[in-house]
Amino acid sequence: MFNRLFEPIKINKVTARNRIVYPALALMYSMDNTINERYINYFRERARGGAGIVTVGPVLFCKTGAGVIAPSIEFDESIPEFRKLVKAIKDEGALAWIQLYHAGAYSYRVLMGGEQSIAPSAVYSNYAKDTPREMTIEDINRVHEMFIRGAEKAKEAGFDGVELLGSAGYLITQFLSPLKNLRTDEYGGSFENRTRFVRELIEKMRLRLGPDFPITIRMAGNDFVAGSNTDEDMPAIAMMYEKAGIDAISVTGGWHESRVPQLAMETSPCRTDNQRWNGRYGKSREGSHCRSLLAEESHGTSRG
Ligand SMILES: Cc1cc2nc3c(=O)[nH]c(=O)nc-3n(C[C@H](O)[C@H](O)[C@H](O)COP(=O)(O)O)c2cc1C
Repeated sequence: MFNRLFEPIKINKVTARNRIVYPALALMYSMDNTINERYINYFRERARGGAGIVTVGPVLFCKTGAGVIAPSIEFDESIPEFRKLVKAIKDEGALAWIQLYHAGAYSYRVLMGGEQSIAPSAVYSNYAKDTPREMTIEDINRVHEMFIRGAEKAKEAGFDGVELLGSAGYLITQFLSPLKNLRTDEYGGSFENRTRFVRELIEKMRLRLGPDFPITIRMAGNDFVAGSNTDEDMPAIAMMYEKAGIDAISVTGGWHESRVPQLAMETSPCRTDNQRWNGRYGKSREGSHCRSLLAEESHGTSRG
């Protein structure tokens, strides 16, 4: 089964030294949406460990997508810090990938300066303990544009590829899911319509990034949420991705709302003292731990 694990693999025009991919993992190492030395040291070590691809993510590209305390690549001023991070990964022989992320209904008001989250439909989120605003067509086009600008900045910073976060219950999955997408316009209803948001995103991104830049996606093999997409539905979605111009697919499982446990949620504390959280999108305040901070602010838990 693993006899090709250590063989190089080509994704679009780039070649990874082996097929081991370090996936995106929310570390919450910065309180101000920037990349700091702790991130750089962490990812240098992952690359030094021998992975073929090291994924930095989740990375935000606009305020409305903030579902976790994460670095943001929305602003030009962030490019030099990401460039430094990319260099640390590449100097150790790995390819540097970035996972771009929009949480949709999983976004927290407290991380967005009090703003209401946006999603395909105004369906209460058991994860964020809040109800999003239904996206207008302008919102859809704006999120596409911000997604693409984030990818362009990532390319400028030297990343070898961009991964779209299309799993775990975030914005892309919300559009795909008949449970979260109740729209009656061209972005909801039929398979063709529910897949339109992500399909248009991929097609537009491909045009802007060019044919040679790797664009990949992370999808769930099964949402593991009653009434949502299952492994019966996913092959058609994967084929749609391939047709739209996706170069590789990372398959994972479930949403944060899944009853089947999907992930360990405990990592080392993102801070231990009185570090000040002063996000580019949120307000500044004291606290002892980001996760408890989120739970406290949203009157719920940080997991669904
Ligand atoms: C704390 C934590 C945060 C994570 N954040 C992300 C994320 O932002 N994006 C993502 O695609 N996966 C995320 N994951 C999932 C991991 O990438 C990985 O798929 C998961 O831990 C299962 O590992 P395995 O695939 O080796 O079994 C996260 C996992 C953990 C434990």
